[in-house]
Amino acid sequence: MSDPVIAAAAEIVQQADPAAVQVRSFFDEATFTVTHVLSDPATGKAAIIDSVLDFDPASGRTSTTSADAVIAYVREQGLEVEWLLETHAHADHLSAAPYLQEQLGGRLAIGRHILTVQNVFGKIFNEGTRFARDGSQFDHLFDEGDRFSVGSIPAIALHVPGHTPADMAYVIGDAVFIGDTLFMPDYGSARADFPGGDAHVLYRSVRRLLSLPEASRLFLCHDYKAPGRDTYAWETTVAEQRRSNVHLHDGVNEDDFVAMRKARDATLDMPRLILPSIQVNMRGGHFPEPEENGVSYLKLPLNQL
Ligand SMILES: [Fe+2]
Repeated sequence: MSDPVIAAAAEIVQQADPAAVQVRSFFDEATFTVTHVLSDPATGKAAIIDSVLDFDPASGRTSTTSADAVIAYVREQGLEVEWLLETHAHADHLSAAPYLQEQLGGRLAIGRHILTVQNVFGKIFNEGTRFARDGSQFDHLFDEGDRFSVGSIPAIALHVPGHTPADMAYVIGDAVFIGDTLFMPDYGSARADFPGGDAHVLYRSVRRLLSLPEASRLFLCHDYKAPGRDTYAWETTVAEQRRSNVHLHDGVNEDDFVAMRKARDATLDMPRLILPSIQVNMRGGHFPEPEENGVSYLKLPLNQL
């Protein structure tokens, strides 16, 4: 294989015992987001991938019902959280990572290219010098090919941009957390029209992911059901995606995908929570510095997106 990082990831998948890589998923119906808890039964170590802080935009109030369900599971299973992994700076929900970290510990990590996102949105929100654009809000920044582990389970980080410039996928044993790249086979792929997004780049990232072993378990960040399907779903395999993903099954070429993706993106509204989400998530899930009255505020830039 000419892609050494994918070859290393494939080896991790092949050597894993699926029974020894446990994944429990939590679905937040308000934002259609899935939070995954991966754990190693041999050591009790765990990673939490893409959490949700509940947010009511009308009142500006946050709450922790979604995150508390994850915390209850982690405690009840007696797990020790090593990592809080973000696949990207989400545009449709606020991350609960700081709250989870306070309650459960663990290192908060995202991809190195979050710096690009911080720069782009730092300008859009006219953030002053108090907003550091160096990723220092996170404990760790992953580069393409970085190896890590969850307990005794080996893992590797893949940079899979396109939806945003900073998207990561995490291969942990035979479980692959692919963020917003592909959705379920009957729903297709993530949009590529946010600032820094690129459908060509997304196509190539997906082709890399789909060159992993066919049995790799793929865990998604979102599900919206699909016409004809009544239940939410968030787990599939490389084989299923290659056979039947409506946008990116085997045989779809890059130009046809890009034409389809651009036409479809042109019809999509901005996500309901994009402005609050990005302002919080580019800070690693922290709220902006409080003003002198002790209150944090979010901005609403007019005519920018
Ligand atoms: Fe996203």
